[in-house]
Amino acid sequence: MGAPGAQALILAAGKGTRLKSAVPKVLQPVLGLPLLEHVLRAVSGSAPASVAVVVGHGADAIEAAFAGRGLRFVRQDPPLGTGHAVSSARAALAAGPGAPLLVVNGDQPLIRPETLRALLEHHRSHGAVATLLTAVLEDPGPYGRVLRGEDGFLRRVVEARDASAELRAVREINAGVYVFELGPLFQALDRLRPENAQGEYYLTDALDLLAAAGHRVGGWACEDADEALGVNTQAELAEAARRLRERKLAALLDAGVRIEDPATTHVEIDVEVEAGAVLRPFTVLEGRTRVRSGASVGPYARIVDSEVESGAQVLDHCLLRECVVEVGASVGPFTHIRPKSRVGPRARVGSFVELKQTQLGEGSKAPHLSYLGDATVGPGVNIGAGTITCNYDGVEKHPTRIEAGAFVGSDATLVAPITIGEGAYVAAGSAITEDVPPFALALGRARQVVKLGWAKTRFPRRKG
Ligand code: UD1
Ligand code: MG
Repeated sequence: MGAPGAQALILAAGKGTRLKSAVPKVLQPVLGLPLLEHVLRAVSGSAPASVAVVVGHGADAIEAAFAGRGLRFVRQDPPLGTGHAVSSARAALAAGPGAPLLVVNGDQPLIRPETLRALLEHHRSHGAVATLLTAVLEDPGPYGRVLRGEDGFLRRVVEARDASAELRAVREINAGVYVFELGPLFQALDRLRPENAQGEYYLTDALDLLAAAGHRVGGWACEDADEALGVNTQAELAEAARRLRERKLAALLDAGVRIEDPATTHVEIDVEVEAGAVLRPFTVLEGRTRVRSGASVGPYARIVDSEVESGAQVLDHCLLRECVVEVGASVGPFTHIRPKSRVGPRARVGSFVELKQTQLGEGSKAPHLSYLGDATVGPGVNIGAGTITCNYDGVEKHPTRIEAGAFVGSDATLVAPITIGEGAYVAAGSAITEDVPPFALALGRARQVVKLGWAKTRFPRRKG
């Protein structure tokens, strides 16, 4: 467990200039969640006494996106650097003196709660006034370089752009997570000066000042250097999503999910897949989707906020949103299911069929080329190829009811509002504008006329 009473502060006021996006950096989606959500979950998992978030650029949007989460928002206006961000939160932090402060950059979506807990533990057990999370990288790139003294404690952190060539060769970097004792931190913050390449107040300078004043400043290197990945550019955003995706897939594989081709399978963070489910190549599962045991999805299927129950199949090239595919049902290939739809147990929806806000009863079938919108279809119904519910009159949407065991012939046009009664038959090619009583046959088309010999009379000279 983390230090009881540790306060947490997430820095999220930066503009994210290098992303070149109108969306604030910490609201950028990464594998289905805003960047800040990933960080927040890790921070919450370290059991802090309170969580405050420093916001500046896009503050209103960030506060709205995270409202009702028990967070305390602190405005930093204008953002003048990470050190200035912590200074801005001073009033909010002073409420709990005596507890250590955990500071986490808001742009590090791979950070894990257990790492934060271990850092807090390291801080306490080493009697340091400040402790920095570090990582050792093959290519330390743009990160701050960490310099330690002979005693192993930290001396300085130098931003890459302020570093000499010699310092730039150092491979231990600032992973953007800090633990501070509040008193010494506040003293150091008062002494920060924006004398660097960016003209900003750097939080890292507070570490230098504390070390120079003879305090113990610790550095603890995390085992998994991935956790240090800070997102500043679109390339880093894509890289963070890739690594999070790999983590997610590894967890699913561990749990007994069969993933035929992890390289082409995309599963967002909050998706649940049960052991014994099969994900075929090029499957994309998003949002709050759940795939139960024995279900199979793909290849080339995209499922958003939906549930695929046990033994159900979603075949090639389907798009499903906010729907439920019940036990043993089969969907696809090439099916589009739109929100608030339900495919009943053992029902079948086939190629080029679109469902919108439609319930399909147990064992019912709509195998080819249909549009069913605002329809309630009972069990054991057959929907012939090309059947269309005309649910929209240009102003309003209207419901269609098709009761148990009804048989709708191919190419029927059902003009809503309308009810097809239990066991009724609709003849192929019918335009149905009036309710069909149970067990009746409805024909809504012109009677066929055959004119014998007509062609020979009309075109006497035509051969063959
Ligand atoms: C920072 C560190 C660097 C470290 C890297 C790890 C400093 C000076 N540098 O660099 O040593 O290796 O993170 O990823 O801290 N922010 C504010 N207010 C501001 C400026 C930034 O809240 O005025 C927030 C940003 O929204 C971001 C975080 O602080 O979430 C870090 O800022 P960023 O500009 O990304 O710093 P880096 O250049 O990545
Ligand atoms: Mg950064």
